[in-house]
Amino acid sequence: MKYLIGADIGTSGTKTVLFTSDGMPVASKTVEYPLYQPQNGWAEQDPADWLNAVVEGISFVIGSSGCDASEIAGIGLSGQMHGLVMLGKDGSVLRKSIIWCDQRTSAQCDELDEKVGRERIIRITCNPPMTGFTASKILWVRENEPEIYEKCAHILLPKDYIRYMLTGELATEVSDASGMQLMDVGKRSWSKELLSILEIDEGLLGKMYESPDITGRVTEKAAAITGLKAGTPVVGGAGDNAAAAVGTGVVRAGSAFTTIGSSAVIYAVSDELKVDKEGRVHSLCASAPGKWTVMSCTQGAGISLKWLRDTCCADEVQKASEQNADSYYIMDKLAEQVPVGSDKLLFLPYLMGERSPHPDPDCRGVFFGLSARHTRANLIRAVLEGVAFSQRECVDVFREMGVPVTDMTVTGGGGRSPLWRQMLSDLYGCPVSILAADEGAALGAALLAGVGCGVYSSLDEACAAVVKKKTAAEPSKERTMEYEPYYALYKQLYRSLTGDFKTLAGI
Ligand code: XUL
Repeated sequence: MKYLIGADIGTSGTKTVLFTSDGMPVASKTVEYPLYQPQNGWAEQDPADWLNAVVEGISFVIGSSGCDASEIAGIGLSGQMHGLVMLGKDGSVLRKSIIWCDQRTSAQCDELDEKVGRERIIRITCNPPMTGFTASKILWVRENEPEIYEKCAHILLPKDYIRYMLTGELATEVSDASGMQLMDVGKRSWSKELLSILEIDEGLLGKMYESPDITGRVTEKAAAITGLKAGTPVVGGAGDNAAAAVGTGVVRAGSAFTTIGSSAVIYAVSDELKVDKEGRVHSLCASAPGKWTVMSCTQGAGISLKWLRDTCCADEVQKASEQNADSYYIMDKLAEQVPVGSDKLLFLPYLMGERSPHPDPDCRGVFFGLSARHTRANLIRAVLEGVAFSQRECVDVFREMGVPVTDMTVTGGGGRSPLWRQMLSDLYGCPVSILAADEGAALGAALLAGVGCGVYSSLDEACAAVVKKKTAAEPSKERTMEYEPYYALYKQLYRSLTGDFKTLAGI
């Protein structure tokens, strides 16, 4: 028997899954860790927490399954994108990682615009300067913590730090690295032109691979703490969304998925590179070699619902614990009792600023239309609808760019909510499918390992063999019509409030 491991280093925790080589999960472990928010709009995590979580996860899945470590054919890593990990010469971590949803770098984005020029940076990196992306975070550290920057010998992404700790290799792969805003995305390599303008030494960055390539092998030291066999191959893997694409079978042009985790992402594959000139959605390298992706990111999706649960829904949390149920399930049931439009209550999901389709670090969350008759059920439904409206706004941009969205799979924690899935189907105007077994990014990472280690001859073959889907919601014309005026108002609200968000940020 051959096995594959997929480990997904997420924002709320790391999920490690041991799969048989035909994609059946055998053992799984999720280890959570904190998110630090030292200031409004800042978001950091400790790479040591990720490492401990991966080590605990791998040891657990090997130990609990009783599998022989020599039968593990390969490991694939997936992870939250864009996070900045800085290491000293000796490989020690120099500061906490500034992660994807951190919004402190608007001044550095302006600087990127000025130094490189907006058209040129879009031509090279296929995206306008983004606070969420890594380049502006690097500039922030260089300007605000020069003593750290001076000591910095290596710059890695979150999952690539784990690769380094497992294999000793300083490497990355195209799907995740294209979210650093330092690559020539069309050429699938670091951009010498950009690095020279920004005076960033290419030697700081990892060696570039395609996602299924073997990038290194588990060292004796890592084997001793994880239970893995030294020499086990570790493939490039992918950014979490590009890994989830493989895990949802989205590896060919025309197919797309929506994942609702902390953020919500819509990801569509295309054979050629398509770029939105206004930068409302991202264009990146896909984990499928030689393909690209158009991707949107709503920063505060699951984060919005979690925030509401943690601040306002103590009763539902209590009820869930009494019934041994998931608190989100109880919240969903409440929201189901409220009609479309949540009795005229709208929510803008900008708790962490926004990226798609409004790259704007200053905007913030809004409940609009609150009335004394509204209950917690209204608040919950409004949050679910606000996140769904944001997805529809992104799909409108995809369609405008000529990227078809007709075959949509919904996944992630939010994809488990029948109500949320129905909202997406009604708003997209197309059926949505779910996976028979939703192991998402961890499965995608494991399948990439399967391809890299020769278990499968291609990603197409791996997905055809493993990924099974079923239709979970069909759009209803009446509901689509009912949503329309609320959706139109939702879009208008951002436009009306843009200046006010700036004023608030400036106070
Ligand atoms: C995508 C993005 C998020 C993170 C966290 O651009 O920033 O999806 O990868 O999951």
